[in-house]
Amino acid sequence: MALQSPVQIDERRVAALAQEELARLNARTPRSGAMFERARRTLSNGVASSYQLRDPWPIYLDCGEGPTVTDVDGNRYWDFHNGFGSMVQGHAHPAIVRAVRERAGAGTHFAAVTEETVVVAEELARRFGLARWRFVNSGSEATMDAIRIARAFTGRETVMKIFGSYHGHHDAVMVSIGVPYEEIGDREELASLPYGAGIPAAVVALTVAVPFNDAGAMERRIERLESEDRAPACVIMEAAMMNLGVVLPQPGYLEQVREITARHGIVLIFDEVKTGLAIAAGGACERFGVQPDMVTLAKTLGGGLPSGAIGGSEQVMSVVEDGSVYQVGTYNGNPLAMAAARASLEEVLTPDAYRDLDALNERLLAGCEEVIARHRLPGYAVGVGSKGCVTFSPVPIVDYETFKANQDVGLTELAWLWNMNRGIYMTPGREEEWTLSVTHTEEAVDAYVQAFGEMAAALTA
Ligand SMILES: Cc1ncc(COP(=O)(O)O)c(C=O)c1O
Repeated sequence: MALQSPVQIDERRVAALAQEELARLNARTPRSGAMFERARRTLSNGVASSYQLRDPWPIYLDCGEGPTVTDVDGNRYWDFHNGFGSMVQGHAHPAIVRAVRERAGAGTHFAAVTEETVVVAEELARRFGLARWRFVNSGSEATMDAIRIARAFTGRETVMKIFGSYHGHHDAVMVSIGVPYEEIGDREELASLPYGAGIPAAVVALTVAVPFNDAGAMERRIERLESEDRAPACVIMEAAMMNLGVVLPQPGYLEQVREITARHGIVLIFDEVKTGLAIAAGGACERFGVQPDMVTLAKTLGGGLPSGAIGGSEQVMSVVEDGSVYQVGTYNGNPLAMAAARASLEEVLTPDAYRDLDALNERLLAGCEEVIARHRLPGYAVGVGSKGCVTFSPVPIVDYETFKANQDVGLTELAWLWNMNRGIYMTPGREEEWTLSVTHTEEAVDAYVQAFGEMAAALTA
């Protein structure tokens, strides 16, 4: 929880420290600079995905082992980025390396089902309480297909999402994400805004966003859409928002969403690409005790290999089984990815693993809270399962509006540079959180708290 009367942080001091830290990081990463010069000649902007961009150059990595990564300059870091929250297993986990080696030697792709896929589906059905599964190769594919299934099942076209949430890079969900605060519009009638160029206006108009943690606003918008003959096919949402730092659902909110969507005949999709297998064995469904009609998984599922999954009730998935929806893909259920997923589920991310992750995260959150209290910083630590962050805001963030209005961008950017120079590898970007792995130790999280404490001291000296 945010402090009642935090100190006023001097913006000029933040900017001066950020400048010093940037110069220091640049001096420590000349090989990344050289790699960037080479890469940009053939890779657009020198990266494989625009989310890997960074000024003046990205930090290029060489290898990872357990809870650490090493960059091309030989700098070793505790990895709290963990591949955008994918590597809850830690890097090169022996069980996954063994499974992948064995599968590689037995053929890696047939476009026919191998036993691993059946085993993974059985285990996911058990963990998420959903009867039927299909596999894909990324989170974007999972949300794209889930939405199509929901549209086919309901015979409706409108997609409802949470304003500010990210669900991948296909057109239907690249709407109302990171937009300037002034353009959001009326809270009851939030604007549908494209996220970047190339998205047809007609597609954007089919996606309608509502604020997180406000079931009343959701239901009122649903009723207006119904009166316009545009009732939503689905509500696609993260049960806990994972791209504004971490924003937890307020007590009762998810239950209300479940009840409202059921009453209006809307398919409720929990997008668990970030939460699933990262915050509990059965993801957000288990953690928050609310059962959606569908879930989407990716990231942690593949233990470092590209994969994704869609789970649904028997009823919703009937439109796949009767052939009305073509849920397809050459690499779906790829044996290599499925071998990694199976090893991960059976040997690494077991229920016991989440007890340890919870305990480690508690230690990290408590350590950060102690630093905040000691230095009276405007912020708070928040997290769940393997995920967490320090949110620099004098008030609790509950949705996109409060995030945009209150998050201290300068402090957030300084924290990233500060961490990088002290061996803490964090996801760049003001919206991100840390992800722990089962290989992280008390030493790793204490290093994080130590670096944070030093930054707090430098800011308030
Ligand atoms: C909640 C959520 N859904 C979907 C996606 C898209 O996943 P991918 O990048 O694997 O396509 C992401 C990616 O960050 C995500 O956080």
